[in-house]
Amino acid sequence: MDDSQVLKERKVVGVVGGGTMGHGIAQVFAQSGFEVKLNDITSELIQAAVKRIDDNLSRSVEKGRISKEEKTEILSRVVPIRDLEDFRDALFVVEAVIEKIEAKTAVFKTLDKICSKDTILTTNTSSIPITQIASLVSNPQRVAGMHFFNPVQVMKLVEVVKGMQTSESTIETVRLMSKKLGKTPVVVSDSPGFISNRILCPMINEAIFALEEGIASKEDIDTVMKLGMNHPMGPLELADFVGLDVVLDVLEVLYREFQDPKYRASPLLRKMVRAGYLGRKTRKGFYDYS
Ligand code: 3HC
Repeated sequence: MDDSQVLKERKVVGVVGGGTMGHGIAQVFAQSGFEVKLNDITSELIQAAVKRIDDNLSRSVEKGRISKEEKTEILSRVVPIRDLEDFRDALFVVEAVIEKIEAKTAVFKTLDKICSKDTILTTNTSSIPITQIASLVSNPQRVAGMHFFNPVQVMKLVEVVKGMQTSESTIETVRLMSKKLGKTPVVVSDSPGFISNRILCPMINEAIFALEEGIASKEDIDTVMKLGMNHPMGPLELADFVGLDVVLDVLEVLYREFQDPKYRASPLLRKMVRAGYLGRKTRKGFYDYS
C-alpha cells in the first residue's frame, strides 16, 4: 500500500478503547477529517465515549472555535462499533485499551486476523514494550507506539515509538499522521517509559517521597513546582490527573527493566493504589474530588 493513502481525509481509522485517552484520540482524528470507527467492550462504554466527545465539541461551539454545523459533521464521523470485525476496512488503528497485556493481546490478535496486512497498527501504551506488542501479529513491521498525552485534545505531543521490528515507512506514516492531527511527533526507540514517562514518573515519585518524609505539605510541594518551575500542575496534582495506578505501573516497569533501585516506587504510592485512591478517576488521590 502507498503510505500516503492512509493520510487522506475520509479514510477509515479505528480506535479501540474509548476511555480517557481513547475518546480524545477518536475526537482528534474526527476533527482532522477521518472517518473514525470507535470500539469498546460494551455499548455503554462506547456511548459514554461519544457523549464525552459531544460535550467537548459543544464547549468548542460555545467558545466560538467551531460552528454548530461543524460540530455535527465532526460527530457524524465518529461511528460506534460493537464488533472489531467491522475494523476490516481500517487503514490505521490506534489501540487505547487498559494497560494489561492480556487485553492488548486479545485486541492485536483479532486485528491481525481481520485487518489487511498493510494496516498500520499502533498502540497508545505508556508502559508495555512496543516490541512485545508487535510480536503478537504476523507482520510486526507495521506496529508502532503512538503515545498521546492527557488531555489528548489539548496536548501537542505524540511520542512515536519504534519497536525492534518496526519499519522506517511505518514510523514515517505515524509521524505524518501525528502532524496531520496537529501534533508534534517525537520519534523514540522502544525503551522502558520511552522519554516522557522515564522522566515524568520518577519526578512524581520523588515528590511522593518528599511528602512521605514530611518535608512539606502536598500543596507546598505542588506550589514549588508550579511557581518555581512553571509547570502547569504540581507533581502530586498531576499524579492524580494521570492516575496513581498508571504512575505505579510505569515505575514497576522502569524498576524491573533497568534493575536500578533509583526507580523504586515510594511505599506511600503503593499504599494509596492498594486503598483504591487512584486520583481523579476515583475522586480521591492526594486531593479530594468528591
Ligand atoms: N479534556 C479536554 N479538554 C480539556 C480537559 C480535558 N480533560 N481539561 C482541560 N481541557 C481544555 C479546556 O477545555 C481548555 O481549553 P480552552 O481554553 O481552549 O477552552 C484548556 O484545556 C485549558 O483548560 P483550563 O483553562 O480549564 O485549565 P488549565 O489552563 O489549568 O489547563 C491542563 C488544564 C491543560 C490540563 C493543564 O493543567 C495542563 O497542561 N496540565 C498538565 C497536563 C499534563 O502534563 N499532561 C500529560 C500527562 S502524562 C500522560 O498523559 C502520559 C501518560 O502515559 C501517563
